[in-house]
Order: sequence, then structure tokens, then C-alpha cells
Amino acid sequence: MRIILLGAPGSGKGTQAKKLMDDFGFPQISTGDLLRQAIADDTEIGKQAKAIMAAGDFVSDEIVLDLIRTSLDRPSNDSGFILDGYPRNIAQAESLDTLLTLIKQPLDYSILIDVDSDTLVKRLSGRRMCSLTGRVLNIYFSDQSEIEECLNAGGELIQRSDDNIQSITNRIKIYREQTEPILEYYKSKGLLIVIDGNGEIDKVYDHILKSTNSLD
Ligand code: AP5
Ligand code: MG
Repeated sequence: MRIILLGAPGSGKGTQAKKLMDDFGFPQISTGDLLRQAIADDTEIGKQAKAIMAAGDFVSDEIVLDLIRTSLDRPSNDSGFILDGYPRNIAQAESLDTLLTLIKQPLDYSILIDVDSDTLVKRLSGRRMCSLTGRVLNIYFSDQSEIEECLNAGGELIQRSDDNIQSITNRIKIYREQTEPILEYYKSKGLLIVIDGNGEIDKVYDHILKSTNSLD
């Protein structure tokens, strides 16, 4: 199964990709995660991306295509993959088409997780990562027990450098301007599925499974 998860910052792409990965074993390929890893490793790409990402702007198409090409080239991705955060503009969508045609791995679905703007801002400003487990939590939406589990084990709740209100506003603006046009691109190819992403995590996941015939 080859899927793209589309949606605004905070729509739940990473959260839903993890659930699909746990249940079905398809690897999640997140350009955001790959770039954050490059920053942590202080690579040349990481050095170029750091300030751009903190401000909530887009990293260059060449850099992200290179990351995607390398990731898709692994034998572990032969039975499928979940793309999270790529493509984000028409040029990236066209590059992805060319790449997938070349490696004979056509897409099955492009799934938009559709969430209201107010909810996006709340989810992003409340997002934290447990320093011990890497688990993504939310101070507004997670069960208190999940947050305490991290803190009681000696972990810290870490906030992403781009989850401040200035970057959040910029990321959502750029999403509307540059990423939303690709919805029409996938719709015209008959690949777009739109999911209501406003409910609880498990409910959204249920919508995804139902609309894709449980990914059979
Ligand atoms: P990236 O890491 O992809 O960030 P993003 O697109 O801004 O999306 P997020 O990761 O913030 O949100 P998400 O949809 O994954 O939500 P999540 O599941 O975490 O990219 C970061 C940066 O890298 C970009 O700004 C850009 O600079 C660069 N970049 C990446 N790809 C690029 C590309 N292709 N081209 C150019 N530049 C690129 O959920 C958010 C929070 O909400 C969490 O706390 C979660 O617990 C909570 N939550 C999730 N679902 C629910 C729910 N249903 N109910 C309640 N809470 C929920
Ligand atoms: Mg994410």
C-alpha cells in the first residue's frame, strides 16, 4: 500500500502514520522527521535547514526530493510506504510522480486529514514530546495519565522549535498558499480521499480505515 498523508500542520499526519505503521507495518517516511534528524546530526543539510524550519518556511525542493529518493530506494519500502509531509507543492507532486513511475510504485491513495484552523493552532501549541520515549503528547488533548507517565519516569516534555505562535501562523499560511493546490492535482487523478480529522485520534483513524477498505 502506497499512501500520501496530506493535511495542514497539526492535522495529525504523524499521529495517524504511526498508527498505520504499527498496525500494517508500512514504513512512515516523514520529510520533517528526516530534516530534524539531519539537524540533530549536524549534517550539511541540517545546517541549511535549521533556521528555515524554525521560522516555518519550506526547505528547498531539491533537498527534500533527495531525502525522499534515498528513503524510497530502500528494499524495506518495496511493499509500501506512508509519505508524511511530502509533497507540499505542485513541483514536489510532479517530481514524486516521475520518481514513482521510474521505480514502478504507483500511489494507491492520497488522504487529506481535514481539520479546522482553530483546532490546528491548539494542537500545535500544545504538542510536546517525551524526552525519554519520543512519544508525541499534547498538554490539551492527551490523557493526564500519559503525561504523568513521562514525567514520573524522569522525562521532560519537549516543545518543537517551530511550535511557537509566529511559526505556527506562518506554517498554516504557507500550507494554504502552496500545499492546498495539490489537493486538486490528486483529485483530478482520482486518488484523493478526504477525512474529517477534527475528532479524537481513534475516531480519525477509523475514518481512514473505512475509507480505504481497511487497507486490504
Ligand atoms: P513537519 O514535521 O512535516 O511539520 P508540519 O507539516 O508542520 O506538520 P506537523 O508535524 O506539525 O503536524 P502533524 O500533522 O504531523 O500533526 P501531529 O500528528 O504531530 O515539517 C516541519 C518543517 O520541515 C516544515 O515546516 C518545513 O520547514 C520542513 N519540511 C518538511 N517537509 C517539507 C517539504 N516537503 N518541503 C519543504 N519543506 C519541508 O499532531 C499534532 C499534535 O496534535 C500532537 O500533539 C498530537 O498528539 C495532537 N493530535 C493529533 N491528532 C489529534 C486528534 N485527532 N485529537 C487531538 N489531538 C491530536
Ligand atoms: Mg508531523
